[in-house]
Amino acid sequence: MDTKSLSSLVAFGAAAAAAGLTIYFLTRRTQEEEEKRTSQGAVMAFSSFDEAPDENTVFIYFGSQTGTAEAFAKDIATQAEERQLEAEIIDLEDFNPKVLAKQKYAVFLVATYGEGDPTDNAVAFHKWLTNKNTEADLSPLLFAVMGLGNRQYMHFNEMAKKVERHLSRFGARNICKRGEGDDDQDIEADFNDWSSKHLWPALERAFRSPSAVASPKMGATPVSSNIPPWAKKAPLKIKFLDKNAPTPPPPAKGVTGTDTHARFYFHSKIVPVAVDRELRQVADSHAGLTTKHVEFDLSSARTPPGVPSGSSDTETDSSSPAAAGRGGASPGRREGGLTYHTADNLDVLPENETAVVEWFAERLGVSKQLDSLICFEHGFGSEDSGKRPFPTPCSVRYALTRFCDLCGLPTKSQLRDFAHFVQDDEEKEALLELLGEGGVRAFRKHVKEPELSLREFMEIFMTSAEFDLAAFLQLCPRQKPRPYTISSSSVESPTQVAVTVSRVANDLPPLKPHLQSLKDDGLLPALDASKLAEISERARTFRGVCSSFLCCRLDHSPAVQVGVKQSSFRLPEDPKVPIIMVAAGTGLAPMRAFVRELRHRRQVGGPSSCPSEVVLFFGCQHEEKDYIYKDELQAALKDGILSDLVLAFSRLQAEKVYVQHRVKEHGKRVVELCSKGGYLFVCGGTAMGRSVREALEEVSVAETGSSTLVDQMGEERRIVEELWA
Ligand SMILES: Cc1cc2nc3c(=O)[nH]c(=O)nc-3n(C[C@H](O)[C@H](O)[C@H](O)COP(=O)(O)OP(=O)(O)OC[C@H]3O[C@@H](n4cnc5c(N)ncnc54)[C@H](O)[C@@H]3O)c2cc1C
Ligand SMILES: NC(=O)c1ccc[n+]([C@@H]2O[C@H](COP(=O)([O-])OP(=O)(O)OC[C@H]3O[C@@H](n4cnc5c(N)ncnc54)[C@H](OP(=O)(O)O)[C@@H]3O)[C@@H](O)[C@H]2O)c1
Ligand SMILES: Cc1cc2nc3c(=O)[nH]c(=O)nc-3n(C[C@H](O)[C@H](O)[C@H](O)COP(=O)(O)O)c2cc1C
Repeated sequence: MDTKSLSSLVAFGAAAAAAGLTIYFLTRRTQEEEEKRTSQGAVMAFSSFDEAPDENTVFIYFGSQTGTAEAFAKDIATQAEERQLEAEIIDLEDFNPKVLAKQKYAVFLVATYGEGDPTDNAVAFHKWLTNKNTEADLSPLLFAVMGLGNRQYMHFNEMAKKVERHLSRFGARNICKRGEGDDDQDIEADFNDWSSKHLWPALERAFRSPSAVASPKMGATPVSSNIPPWAKKAPLKIKFLDKNAPTPPPPAKGVTGTDTHARFYFHSKIVPVAVDRELRQVADSHAGLTTKHVEFDLSSARTPPGVPSGSSDTETDSSSPAAAGRGGASPGRREGGLTYHTADNLDVLPENETAVVEWFAERLGVSKQLDSLICFEHGFGSEDSGKRPFPTPCSVRYALTRFCDLCGLPTKSQLRDFAHFVQDDEEKEALLELLGEGGVRAFRKHVKEPELSLREFMEIFMTSAEFDLAAFLQLCPRQKPRPYTISSSSVESPTQVAVTVSRVANDLPPLKPHLQSLKDDGLLPALDASKLAEISERARTFRGVCSSFLCCRLDHSPAVQVGVKQSSFRLPEDPKVPIIMVAAGTGLAPMRAFVRELRHRRQVGGPSSCPSEVVLFFGCQHEEKDYIYKDELQAALKDGILSDLVLAFSRLQAEKVYVQHRVKEHGKRVVELCSKGGYLFVCGGTAMGRSVREALEEVSVAETGSSTLVDQMGEERRIVEELWA
């Protein structure tokens, strides 16, 4: 297979994600600006088309929080290009109803969060869409929708359903079946299936003459032979800088637009670690049995190095290049503060382990330049070709440590991008089998099921790859910040924010049987025998990147890059409103924040300022091993901050006892408090959240004869959940 046919591997794919929701205080448009934009849309009647609709372009809108929808949008743009169609990606943050009214073909890729809510970047769009006063004539528009969601949540793909319903209300016509991406299973496969079986056939029909749409010629991008096939996705070059040289201006303007993660990199802050302590009575951090209480000092927040002052990257960088030279957290500028509200979310940018960074540096051939400074400069194409994917100048080490997801499970799309760099024909053959159109089953069997890491994939299938550093830094999925529910009270400690983190860890079986099955299927490239033996026998473990960073490596990283997002957890102001809290494991975080806030309220306003009925259900494994914040909870009960503390120790007896069992046991009291207008807060794993809701329905039926109470609480938003898979 030649390089040209190898370039046909480019396309389809996704970056999967851990997640979070709601608003970055520092990045969002102001409320006022939002209102202005959406109200303009709401009152506008789109009867006058002074310009004909754009009939030659497929507009791809995305609503994304953690980058998956955005990655799919990029894949559709590539697919359009392969069919020689114009495509334009639009961040829903930049949605303009007047513009939509002039478009003919639009694809919407929208993720759902919370109670069927939009992502941050789709809030204004959602408001415009669902506002009953919105008048719009979208009759020229032909659209397709794919939802990104997770069946574990109650409101599966609700945003996509709303988009479909409301666009139809405005006269737009849906051209194909709605895509239903389920992150609980294989969302990349859902996307590939939908785009190939539904979206493209429908778009081809919609363009009327099928011949108007060329058959896909993957990788048909290069304009001239000097431009490599990956240049479209990785348009910038890098330049090594002299440490003392003045910093050149950034190559591109605007960090918003189509880059979800760049927003975080440019707008979050670096804060020092103030407290780092183990919460478990018995901990074994190596085995993953560790839960840490970590506090950050917000009063010393600094702008990350490489980020221009005022966070507008049209300006010249002013931070010293030397500041970003080391791999650890560098000082940056001390500027601006970071504020939070009790039980908000703290987004934390993890750092990859040094050993991982050094392995990749070696593989990329840049070990000797790890501490050299780089910046981006104009690359292929026009002067304005591309935004900076992350702040520069910084060292190569800094970029690999913080901005590259080197440990996540690689997606097919990512691997196709990297496949361009493979030199050896035999390796190219194996890659085509795995990553090509026909390789769905082979990819699942040989890459997904054994949970091959990027490193393992490169060691087995890409030994001959010669990577270009600039391209690697741009094509590698961006490191995602992970959300943690804040476990401190902003009224008690406004400048010190706490999170409660448990390490994610599990062991993986050795690769020996998988390598054998690869060989049996004729897909194992010729590897050096000793290397093959080493990979076969190697002990494999999976350790979560961010939880390991926070639980085990803060002594090496005394400052961490974070951002604050709003959550839906808010204590009712009215002290007469009862509160029920249900939490398992680290789900205790927001409840601990509430308990501290209530204690503070009582200290300031006296007993009448706090509710007298505050019930906490808490589940962990052992009373003497992982009962986190035990002393604080017992003191809260003793002091009357909590009226009831109901514990579920799952492993103290032969049968598992979970919080949902305790909710059922205390059904009468729970229903009584809910009937009095009480709030139910639930936090922890999604499976636990679902079982707690079912338990509530069961006790409601048992006590009142119907589940109306639960429906009513749902409508009044008195059931507040923060669940993660
Ligand atoms: C709103 C919200 C609030 C949260 N609050 C808290 C909290 O208070 N405390 C807390 O401890 N956590 C919390 N989390 C979870 C937290 O955000 C992170 O998801 C968690 O710490 C794991 O991140 P990690 O980087 O350690 O793991 P990651 O490196 O992101 O790995 C976890 C994911 O990797 C994937 N994976 C599985 N196997 C492998 C493999 N072999 N190789 C590579 N990847 C694999 C899976 O998708 C898995 O979910 C919250 C999550 C959300 C959405
Ligand atoms: N996305 C992530 O990577 C991530 C990161 C951190 C936590 N989590 C999830 O968040 C939750 C809390 O994690 P953690 O490490 O803090 O706590 P944990 O130790 O895993 O669990 C806390 C308690 O919850 C119990 N539990 C397990 N499954 C349950 C269920 N279906 N319903 C009710 N209780 C259940 C556990 O019992 P047993 O262990 O005895 O079954 C234990 O007693 C877990 O569901 C975990 O999977 C996810
Ligand atoms: C805190 C949280 C809440 C979520 N709520 C929902 C939900 O209500 N309905 C749903 O279908 N999916 C829900 N999801 C799943 C996401 O929509 C899904 O992971 C999606 O792929 C994210 O896409 P993105 O990376 O583009 O943001 C939730 C995920 C998280 C982390």
